[in-house]
Amino acid sequence: MSNIERIIYEAMEKIKNSDDEMLENIRSEYFGKNGILTKILKSLSHYSIEDRKRIGFETNKAKTNLESEIEKRRKGLKKTLIVQKMQREKLDCSSIFYFPFPKGSFHPIVQTIQDMILTFKSLGFLVAEGPEIETDWYNFEALNIPKNHPAKDIQDTFYLDSMKNLLLRTHTSPGQIRVMEKQKPPIKVVVPGRVYRNESSDASHSSTFHQIEGLRVDKNVTFLDLKIILTKFIHSFFCYELNVRFRPSYFQFTEPSAEVDVQCLFCMGRGCKVCKNSGWIEMLGCGMLHPNVLGSVNYDSELYTGYAFGMGVERITMLKYKIDDIRLFYENDLRFLKQF
Ligand code: PHE
Repeated sequence: MSNIERIIYEAMEKIKNSDDEMLENIRSEYFGKNGILTKILKSLSHYSIEDRKRIGFETNKAKTNLESEIEKRRKGLKKTLIVQKMQREKLDCSSIFYFPFPKGSFHPIVQTIQDMILTFKSLGFLVAEGPEIETDWYNFEALNIPKNHPAKDIQDTFYLDSMKNLLLRTHTSPGQIRVMEKQKPPIKVVVPGRVYRNESSDASHSSTFHQIEGLRVDKNVTFLDLKIILTKFIHSFFCYELNVRFRPSYFQFTEPSAEVDVQCLFCMGRGCKVCKNSGWIEMLGCGMLHPNVLGSVNYDSELYTGYAFGMGVERITMLKYKIDDIRLFYENDLRFLKQF
């Protein structure tokens, strides 16, 4: 090992274990006024030209190497400091007392909608959605509800403009029109959603509630298909033992129309306060699509027939869980909600 090589070797060893202050001392020890390498450079005149060149070159090279080694060590030290600081300040969660946060759950109305959708899916229905802000056309006109019909009265509908064109949908039936407008038969969908009626609330009424609409259009769809599907739905959603009956009714958009009653779930048909001693509870409205409705979406009513049905989600949830006041769904009282 040459003299310079040994000097470098020793310096490198020192640098490895130095802190910032020691690095500064090493710098002056080697490159300072009386530094080891400075002295060598100063003494070059004592050597032959040959040696001068060689020693000068090696010394300068050693200088550059040592400088960069010192710089590397400086950076390393800085990094170590940061890591040490991070370790010191690291949050130790191991000693925090375990607090069992209660798990949330879906609102009973959402749960019912999800359950109903599952049941309808098993019967071959797809799911569609429509907007809550509707136009007069979708909510009324296309559904064969004429201009001067009492249902359009300001009492029932929340209008959003003075022209009475924009409104909050009063039922999910405009969803039927939007689906038929977009696609050709065969159609088999359910449309869940929130609806609005301009009326005051009591134990069985609310100005905001939810419905689920059903629609099927194809060649040769009959009232029997409607009866079969709704009976299957009620049986699989509630209980297979329940009696179901279809009662003639009237809706502008269906003809013939019917209302479906189920055997009272509270007294199993014996008669009680809830079913007003009739043994039956009204569950939903339905019927065969009126030719005018098919016409409003340019379907050929000679070729296609269809059925539609609509039911209130709150009402069904109330029956299922034996709840006697609709307002409980909107008060967000945790003692009520926690039961679901
Ligand atoms: N849209 C009706 C209502 O809100 C329910 C219904 C839907 C009836 C489809 C027949 C067919 O009362």
